[in-house]
Amino acid sequence: MTSVFAKDNPPGSCGPNGSFLADVMTGLASSHKSLPAKYFYDATGSKLFEAICALEEYYPTRTEIGILETYANEMAAAIGDNAMVIEYGAGSMEKIRILLNVLTDPVVFVPVDISEAHLIAAARGLCLTYPDLDVQHVVADFTKPVLLPAPPRPVARRVVFFPGSTIGNFEPNQTVEILRSIGDTIGPGGGLLIGVDLQKDEDRLVRAYDDAAGVTAEFNLNLLARINRELDGDFLLERFRHVARYNRDLQRIEMHLQSLVNQAVRVASRTFNFTAGETIHTENSYKYTLAGFDDLAFRAGFRRDQHWTDEGGMFAEIFYHRTR
Ligand code: AVI
Repeated sequence: MTSVFAKDNPPGSCGPNGSFLADVMTGLASSHKSLPAKYFYDATGSKLFEAICALEEYYPTRTEIGILETYANEMAAAIGDNAMVIEYGAGSMEKIRILLNVLTDPVVFVPVDISEAHLIAAARGLCLTYPDLDVQHVVADFTKPVLLPAPPRPVARRVVFFPGSTIGNFEPNQTVEILRSIGDTIGPGGGLLIGVDLQKDEDRLVRAYDDAAGVTAEFNLNLLARINRELDGDFLLERFRHVARYNRDLQRIEMHLQSLVNQAVRVASRTFNFTAGETIHTENSYKYTLAGFDDLAFRAGFRRDQHWTDEGGMFAEIFYHRTR
C-alpha cells in the first residue's frame, strides 16, 4: 500500500479547517443564510452519516448495494480487465469490495478522499482482504482533477467509481465541472461508474431526510455544534430545528436549520441576527431522471454505455465512457 499525499495534488478548499471560518462568516452574513454541506463531516458528523446510511427510511445506501451485488459481473465486464480503478470519496470502501470480488486483474485500486486518516484506515482493511491487490491511496479534493500514481504495470483503462449519489450534493453546473475533471483524470478511453439517486415520490424523499429517530436532524444540527467547538460560536441548538423539504421546481431535497425565535448568535466575535422562522440552508440533494443526468454527463464529454437500477427504479448505477 502506498500513499500520494495532498502536496502532490492541488490543495482543495475543504482541507481540514482551511477555509471553515471564512465560509461560515460568508454564509451567515448573506441575506439567505447558508453553510456549505462539506462541513458536516467532522468525526461526529461522519459517525452520524454512517448511522443515517443504516436507517430504514434512508433507502440510497442499501438500494445501491443491492444493485452492485446483483449486477457486479456486468459492471466488471463494462470496466474490463487490467483496469486502474479510482474511487472518489472513498470513505469506508465497502462498495468497492463488491466489484473487487469479480474484477479481472485490476492493476491498481486508487481510493481518493480528502480525509487522510479515514483513507489509511480503510485502505489497510482492504489490503487485508485483498493481499495481492495494489492499493495506492491519494489524499485530494476530488472536485478538481486528481494526480494519479504511476501504475506498477500497463493499464488497459482508467475507470472512476463514484458511488453514493454524492454527486447529487453539487449544483448541476458544478456537477458538469466535476464530471469534466473526472474526464481529465481518466484520459481518453476512460470510464465512469457513478451512483445517481433518481426522482421519486415526494413523501418517500422527505422521510429519507427527516427520519423518525431524528438522526438526520442531529446530523444537521451538528454543524452548529461544530461551529461552537471549532470557531468559538455560541449557538443554542435547542433554538433551531431541522427542516427537510422537497423543492419540486429544482428537483432537490433541501435541508435547512430553522431559527425558532428572534435571536443573536456570536461566532468568532461577530454577531449574526436571526428572525423567528428564518433558515440556514445547509444542503441540497438533487434527484435526477436518467435522461437528465445523461444531459449533464454529455455536456462534460461522456456518453452512457449501460445502467442498472433496482426493481423500484429508485437508484441508478450508470456506466459512461469518455467521448473525447
Ligand atoms: C452524502 N450524500 C449523498 C447524502 C445525501 O443523501 O444527499 C448526504 C445526506 N444528507 C442527509 N442525509 C444524507
